[in-house]
Amino acid sequence: MSLDAAATKPHEALNALLSADMDAVNALIRDRMASEHAPRIPEVTAHLVGAGGKRLRPMLTLAAARLCGYTGPYHVHLAATVEFIHTATLLHDDVVDESAQRRGRPTANLLWDNKSSVLVGDYLFSRSFQLMTETGSLDVLRILSNASATIAEGEVLQLTAATDLATNEGIYLQVVRGKTAALFSAATEVGGVIADAEEEHVKALYDYGDALGIAFQIADDLLDYQGSTAQTGKNVGDDFRERKLTLPVIKAVAQATDEERAFWVRTIEKGKQVEGDLEQALAIMDKYQTLDATRQDALEWADKAKVAIATLPQHEIRDLLADIADYVVARLT
Ligand code: IPE
Ligand code: IPE
Ligand code: MG
Ligand code: MG
Repeated sequence: MSLDAAATKPHEALNALLSADMDAVNALIRDRMASEHAPRIPEVTAHLVGAGGKRLRPMLTLAAARLCGYTGPYHVHLAATVEFIHTATLLHDDVVDESAQRRGRPTANLLWDNKSSVLVGDYLFSRSFQLMTETGSLDVLRILSNASATIAEGEVLQLTAATDLATNEGIYLQVVRGKTAALFSAATEVGGVIADAEEEHVKALYDYGDALGIAFQIADDLLDYQGSTAQTGKNVGDDFRERKLTLPVIKAVAQATDEERAFWVRTIEKGKQVEGDLEQALAIMDKYQTLDATRQDALEWADKAKVAIATLPQHEIRDLLADIADYVVARLT
């Protein structure tokens, strides 16, 4: 790694390396998020897109394409497609989760209303499909439309699994693979596919995205308990208040005494929460050190991502992708 790269975070280093392409992606996003026919659309999209976001997924698509030697123009369309799918799911997710903060700003559902968030989310989904058809590749259409369906399945599975104390780590993994990792793995896979890369290289990119996405969501779920709003741009404790059974709680429920189990039944299953419950939940998780155990799981998935990418030929971008796997979990320490 160069001294410059060592001084910055890996996603910033990758952003700098791909800056011309990222500029093109951002220009395409700005162009396609507009609408001449419904003024509410640019209001909502400008609010969300203008707030930034890490642009991690489109960066992964550009990186995968570059890593596989792609020289055509369509990786930019694919990267914008991926970010549109992501942004659409965030609009819908904040309605479903009744969240009040996103990217350090009030959510669209709070500033406007649920109707606007749902419909503008639908608009962005549709725009993403228009964008991907412009590549003319049926393979990328298949991969990205499958990913969209899988994300929706993951979110719907979570609806029923999240407040059910019988939800175990296996079901949690299924939810996370669907709602989050499916887009990461599609983002990296289409980069390889558009570059016409060898099958085993495409597979390695897919496996990297899958493991990275799982590590990323486990980290997000941990930060919901131990992070800060300054760090995440979201409210801390949202998952508990929303009665979302995530890994740190699942691990605590598995070891609960009768009294602790009654606490989880009341707060998560029945949703009857009172002042001080979040602190009580944290105390129980501390007793069983489930936040530490969750961090260990995230580290293991980050390692799996690095193992997957190691099978690809040596390349500056490959090393940065490995650093990104470390970075998503380094946020936790
Ligand atoms: C948020 O993703 C949704 C999750 C999968 C946890 P990001 O943290 O990548 O969101 P932005 O785009 O940077 O805001
Ligand atoms: C990720 O789940 C949402 C999607 C992948 C659509 P979360 O509900 O944990 O994401 P945040 O915490 O709201 O960003
Ligand atoms: Mg949410
Ligand atoms: Mg979350």
